Amino acid sequence: MLTLMVFSLIGLAHSSAIPPNNLRLDYQVFSDQEDAKLSVPEIITKYGYPCEEYHVVTPDNYILTLHRIPHGRTPKNGPKEVAYLQHGILSSSADWIISGPEKGLAYVLADEGYDVWMGNARGNKLSRNHTYLNPDTSDEFWDFSWHEIGYYDLPTMIDFVLEQTGKADLFHIGHSQGTTTFYVMTSMRPDYNAKIKAHFSLAPIAYMNHMTSPLMHIIAFWQKPLTVLLNLIGVREFLPSTEFMAMGGNILCGDDSLTQILCKNALFAICGFSPKEMNGTLLPIMSGHTPAGSSTKQFMHYAQEINSGYFRRFSYGVFQNLQKYGSIWPPSYDLRKITAPVYLLYSKNDWLAGKIDVDRLYKGLANVKGRFMVAEESFNHLDFVFGIRSRELVYNKVISLMAKL
Ligand SMILES: *[C@@H]1O[C@H](CO)[C@@H](O)[C@H](O)[C@H]1NC(C)=O
Ligand SMILES: *[C@@H]1O[C@H](CO)[C@@H](O)[C@H](O)[C@H]1NC(C)=O
Repeated sequence: MLTLMVFSLIGLAHSSAIPPNNLRLDYQVFSDQEDAKLSVPEIITKYGYPCEEYHVVTPDNYILTLHRIPHGRTPKNGPKEVAYLQHGILSSSADWIISGPEKGLAYVLADEGYDVWMGNARGNKLSRNHTYLNPDTSDEFWDFSWHEIGYYDLPTMIDFVLEQTGKADLFHIGHSQGTTTFYVMTSMRPDYNAKIKAHFSLAPIAYMNHMTSPLMHIIAFWQKPLTVLLNLIGVREFLPSTEFMAMGGNILCGDDSLTQILCKNALFAICGFSPKEMNGTLLPIMSGHTPAGSSTKQFMHYAQEINSGYFRRFSYGVFQNLQKYGSIWPPSYDLRKITAPVYLLYSKNDWLAGKIDVDRLYKGLANVKGRFMVAEESFNHLDFVFGIRSRELVYNKVISLMAKL
């Protein structure tokens, strides 16, 4: 019964985005797996860049890890601007370096002369720590959504970066959930707008009711009969069941060994992938670093957005909402309070950041400076960080905009 409902749902939700079985790729997979096992600082120094690691504590006592590449391989003179990068769901600071020195955004920005900082949200494997709660045993540790990441983690990390560098503001670049947390921060704590020189949203996520990811539709479908959902994806920490992953496998997997690997990875199964942009050589490295961990509540919160069509705070049900927010429904994030300059970069085949949803976000933001559709039809959600042509299609645009500010 469950399977039947789920697959009829997929039939409705999903039409064109299934990758073909005949993938042809740069396929020296498993030749060099070293980067899969090394830590983020080890990889960065291996490629000849300086790296620093810092730990910060949020007001609610989560211990977070920050990585910094203070300059490129050949340091440039002159004043340095700070570029702060924030990863998406199930990801970490590793996202920005996995593609290697020619293509990883962190390296590219460092070589352009930026002082690059990379945050890690609570609950991923680099920020899975707390001053007194144990993530292995404490339910309380996992009781957070991206709301708390935007409200506590991001301001804590940004304040630390500004303090360390003596700067008044910084460039903020977010991918996916890293854009959601930016909107949460700047709408809930508007004084942080002044600390943002400009923000670049790669694959922006605020409204979600037009997204097409089949596995996110399943999560949204089961969000109300919650116990089913929690059995599928984990009660506190996101630990998808084999049943849940098998649903993804049935949708996404061809016979090709590459798709077989991809659809066993929760991140790719949820976000999709475009064969054209996928560099097979990077697969083992990606698999070594992602999925990096998230709470179940982050997914439940997104599922609520898919069902409601609102970009608003977590809904606990009528009675608890009344207690917590003083209203039956949770309050919406007020996009008009986001006065920092914002640029939106999105793509047509993105399974999560649907064009209609991005356009609605664009109209709501108080100080949006531009929106750019990636000039490649097949570009998908994760291609913004891992795509073969991410540099020419996305990063060069961001860099040229930053240079003018
Ligand atoms: C967690 O933080 C404490 C400091 O409060 C540190 O001693 C410990 O090594 C950290 N654990 C991990 C897994 O990083
Ligand atoms: C794939 O990644 C490897 C390792 O970073 C790189 O050497 C290669 O040039 C990439 N291939 C393409 C087509 O971008």
